[in-house]
Amino acid sequence: AIQAVIFDLDGVLVHTDRFHYEAWQRMANEEGISFDVSINDRLRGVSRMESLDIILEKSERSYTQSEKEDLADRKNEYYRELLLQLTPADAAEGALAFIARCKEQDVKTAIGSSSRNTPMILERIGLAHVFDAIADGNQIVRSKPDPEVFLLAAQQLGVDPAYCLVVEDAEAGLIAAERAGMLKAAIGAAFDSSVADYRLRNLAEMAEIVFG
Ligand code: BG6
Ligand code: MG
Repeated sequence: AIQAVIFDLDGVLVHTDRFHYEAWQRMANEEGISFDVSINDRLRGVSRMESLDIILEKSERSYTQSEKEDLADRKNEYYRELLLQLTPADAAEGALAFIARCKEQDVKTAIGSSSRNTPMILERIGLAHVFDAIADGNQIVRSKPDPEVFLLAAQQLGVDPAYCLVVEDAEAGLIAAERAGMLKAAIGAAFDSSVADYRLRNLAEMAEIVFG
């Protein structure tokens, strides 16, 4: 039986993916770098600096490490400005009810996110205090598709990875979960991924998988 559910944050519990897109777009425009939705999909689950490297593939010139850090910082400022719009109403539909049911039935819950903005986002959407563990971009060195963040979440929970179910909207995240030896449910942008064990149209469908 499933003993723990590990949620990806961006694109699963809250639709910050549109804010990431808008913030990268603004920075890329200022730099004269072309950027579009097809590139944006490759940024899901990937760390801030790795995302920047993907965006800079389209650039005419090369950037020094310190220039890259400035660009990433600038994008993050734009992004955090956008995050101020978030309220508890932006938590994905069905998330809170499902988490409450997990609590009742002794199924542990955790966050496994590449984002260093995880604490701020959880605070804004009112989910800062509902999880048994939070593993995020501030605590890891290798981002998805490396399994590090999910293994850290399982370790914090004290649950064997084989009994953990990960919910992801990113191909990189599904691969990370696979490498961690966990079960995987795909939602949103990752719906059609062949790596997934389950496919969800919404979070309410988690109940059937976890509680049967
Ligand atoms: C992931 C997002 O959750 O976090 C990525 O899917 C993002 O798009 C990554 O690049 C890092 O986010 P942050 O908030 O640390 O810049
Ligand atoms: Mg995601």
